[in-house]
Amino acid sequence: PARPYVIDEMISAKTIAARVEALAKEISQAFAGTDKLVVVGLLRGSFVFIADLVREIDLPVEVDFLEASSYGDAMESSREVRILKDLRGEIAGRDVLVVEDIVDTGFTLSHVLRLLQSREPARLEVCALLDKPSRREVPVRARWTGFEIPDEFVVGYGIDFAQRNRNLPFIGKVRFPGEAS
Ligand code: PRP
Ligand code: MN
Ligand code: MG
Repeated sequence: PARPYVIDEMISAKTIAARVEALAKEISQAFAGTDKLVVVGLLRGSFVFIADLVREIDLPVEVDFLEASSYGDAMESSREVRILKDLRGEIAGRDVLVVEDIVDTGFTLSHVLRLLQSREPARLEVCALLDKPSRREVPVRARWTGFEIPDEFVVGYGIDFAQRNRNLPFIGKVRFPGEAS
């Protein structure tokens, strides 16, 4: 990004860890008895979340990834979701959990769910770490949400601003000093 910015911590690593543990418990109960749960991470934003989440899920798990992109380096959604990398495995007749870092306009998740639903999984649920309901343009909801957040541009714990800050251990909000927020 051209303008300098600062990052204010919004959700600490500790708070995230506690929430991830609770989500994993609920997911383990909801899918109890499954043969094997296919956990699908949406790259790249979900890579940290899925890594922490699957290690707390008490079920046989297969991990797969799908790469979807709509923001690129911009702060605004392009509203055009591109699938850059498809799943390796088959999901027909299987129990599937999609893991997403954040649901904002909803374009990415609804596009991905339509694609995966067409492959006729037995079950298809979503766990999103963050949800910004005030920004929704496409009606879509995750069955599990870590935190509902206000309309702030957030980074960290996998989430980027122009491909930076994904490695922060906490969720922070981006602020441009000197500009009204
Ligand atoms: C971000 C984020 C979500 C999506 C949410 O991905 O990781 O996948 O946007 O926004 P939406 O609800 O408005 O569609 P991005 O396109 O930046 O790709 P990335 O995960 O590789 O950063
Ligand atoms: Mn993403
Ligand atoms: Mg991004």
